[in-house]
Amino acid sequence: MRPLDLIRKKRDGGELYSDEIGFLVRAYTRDEIPDYQMAAWLMAVVIRGMSRPELSALTSAMLHSGEVLDLSDIPGAKVDKHSTGGVGDKTSLIIAPVVAAAGVTVPMISGRGLGHTGGTLDKLQSIPGFNIDLSLSEFRRVLKSCGCGLIGQTAEIAPADKKLYALRDVTATVESPNLICASIMSKKLAEGIDGLVLDVKTGSGAFMKTEKDSAHLAELMVETGERMGKKMVALITDMDQPLGLKVGNALEVEECIEVMNGKGPADLREVSVELAAWMLYLAGRTPSVDAGRELADEVIRNQYALKKFREIVVQQGGDARAIDDPARLPQAQNRVPVLSPASGFVDAIQCEQVGIASLVLGGGREKKDDVIDPAVGLVLHKKVGDPVQKDEPFCSVHYNSDARLSSAQSLLQQAYRVAEKPPAVRRPLIHRVISGKGAQA
Ligand code: URA
Repeated sequence: MRPLDLIRKKRDGGELYSDEIGFLVRAYTRDEIPDYQMAAWLMAVVIRGMSRPELSALTSAMLHSGEVLDLSDIPGAKVDKHSTGGVGDKTSLIIAPVVAAAGVTVPMISGRGLGHTGGTLDKLQSIPGFNIDLSLSEFRRVLKSCGCGLIGQTAEIAPADKKLYALRDVTATVESPNLICASIMSKKLAEGIDGLVLDVKTGSGAFMKTEKDSAHLAELMVETGERMGKKMVALITDMDQPLGLKVGNALEVEECIEVMNGKGPADLREVSVELAAWMLYLAGRTPSVDAGRELADEVIRNQYALKKFREIVVQQGGDARAIDDPARLPQAQNRVPVLSPASGFVDAIQCEQVGIASLVLGGGREKKDDVIDPAVGLVLHKKVGDPVQKDEPFCSVHYNSDARLSSAQSLLQQAYRVAEKPPAVRRPLIHRVISGKGAQA
């Protein structure tokens, strides 16, 4: 087989056989195909798309480029959740302990912040001492001991994705539903899970801005997972404004602790409980999603989830005192409000701008090797629909560097739109549920 023929075939709209796709992925992972040929093939995929059998073959080849965890020695079903990324999207830190506290194993391999969106690993690392770089054998030990582990992708998991993702990032080939699906699913399926709940975000702070595009990606991922024998469901959830009130790594950990203490913002709690309920249902822990919701509420109410979170933090080397006293989490030195220029109602919040504001404060990376400032971020005082007076604060900026402040402030000023009346239509938090055949509620 020659890469040139396979690039030409895709360029001309042909359908590749699974052994041809397998050859490309294997040879590229072993450095036997140069970046420029793989980039040409990826671009042909972006433009021409893929058939479902091609997508399955790509996902499977990427999945089997590395180790696939076998967790069959841990009793019971194992489930995970994956989010396509958003702003203030911190639900993993709540869901994982909730579901583990309810007795279901959660082997969660997460990512870092990407673009304007935050990442679970960056949030976890704001807990002093928390180690996300466990080896796979340490990961197993933590899973067995407390039913949940939260780590980053290791060199053994889907190495083809690691290489392909880096290439896509610099060749304008990220934005392809097929390539996104194969990338996400190859990593998630390597976790040795039985079921997966996908949180596919939609709106101004999501990578997929329209519900139609989000639903298309969700359908691809649900179908791909099902074909590989997994129970799958995707929830299309709203990301047209930040989730919760806090954006920034340590601030988001603090907000998750609030929710597990039975407080915190209602939207964050609702989305977290809904996703956890589906995980409990897919795992067979509850006979229905409704029962899953009740159980998730119960483990939050009786503080079992918080206790489980403490256990996970201890198992992974973190300072659990930060859970009881969030002042032990990194704190920014300065705070300044961003004021409303007019009285009225918050009509819209450009969510991506809010994510970029947090990023420019140092909460995310502009370049791959940038070091994150875990303390910085924003606390929102107003969300869509809230009344606001002139000179009342929209939000507070938590910052450490004067040099970074002014661009964050102007992004936030532009992000908020004030109107005379509240918005006529309120967007739902959960737009749609797309369930696979094995996961009908
Ligand atoms: N997240 C991933 O892991 N892969 C993609 O391609 C896009 C988002």
